[in-house]
Amino acid sequence: MTPAKRRGVFIAIEGPDGAGKSTQAAMLAERIEREARLRVVRVREPGGTPTGERVREVLLDPKLAAMCPWTELLLYMASRAQLVEEVIRPALAAGHAVVSDRFLLSSVVYQGYAGAIGPRPVLTLARAAFKDCLPDLTVVVDVPAAEGLSRSSRRRRGARGGKADRVEAKGLAYAEKVRAGFLDAAKRRLAGRSVILDGRAPAGEVAEDIWHEVRRVL
Ligand SMILES: Nc1ncnc2c1ncn2[C@@H]1O[C@H](COP(=O)(O)OP(=O)(O)OP(=O)(O)O)[C@@H](O)[C@H]1O
Ligand SMILES: [Mg+2]
Repeated sequence: MTPAKRRGVFIAIEGPDGAGKSTQAAMLAERIEREARLRVVRVREPGGTPTGERVREVLLDPKLAAMCPWTELLLYMASRAQLVEEVIRPALAAGHAVVSDRFLLSSVVYQGYAGAIGPRPVLTLARAAFKDCLPDLTVVVDVPAAEGLSRSSRRRRGARGGKADRVEAKGLAYAEKVRAGFLDAAKRRLAGRSVILDGRAPAGEVAEDIWHEVRRVL
């Protein structure tokens, strides 16, 4: 299939667990619609398609603790490739904005840096599978590791009776490694044009900072 010509804009919101990605993705989508008058397609990772949601269940299942980094990486990439094909590429071809809650940078960080595969194989896979469909801008919402952990445990305590999922269960040292990975990968622009924004401020202020960056690429 010849890829349709790309006309829309693709923004990925990245950062560690509890950084405020989902909060910011929702606010950004609303703002793009209101101020840029573009239709916004919101997606989440892993998932966002029927196939991807099934892959998500496997990836986030706390019973599957022994999954090796390569298995994890290939599953994330499978979900992502499906999302690109089924949702993102058609949306961009139609001239819409796409706001993704996590995308390639998460794999670069979690499987690449923290999972010891290293960033290069992750980027090689992405180039092979969907190099024409990378974000125009990747926004990293940065918070100290402990802050991210405490925000997500507060939020999830009610919903799941206090049980951490497989990623959360790895603790503070892991969260520090993840945070450092996001900062390094974004500085080196491994997943393309990237900005790092301070996520400690109130959500409305973080949203302003994000908008300031996003409007340049609209
Ligand atoms: N700027 C902020 N200041 C304080 N709390 C915030 C801020 N942004 C979000 N929160 C709160 O922190 C928690 C996590 O936010 P959110 O779900 O948006 O993060 P996330 O990065 O999507 O997390 P996850 O990686 O677990 O999906 C929520 O309870 C949310 O209300
Ligand atoms: Mg979220």
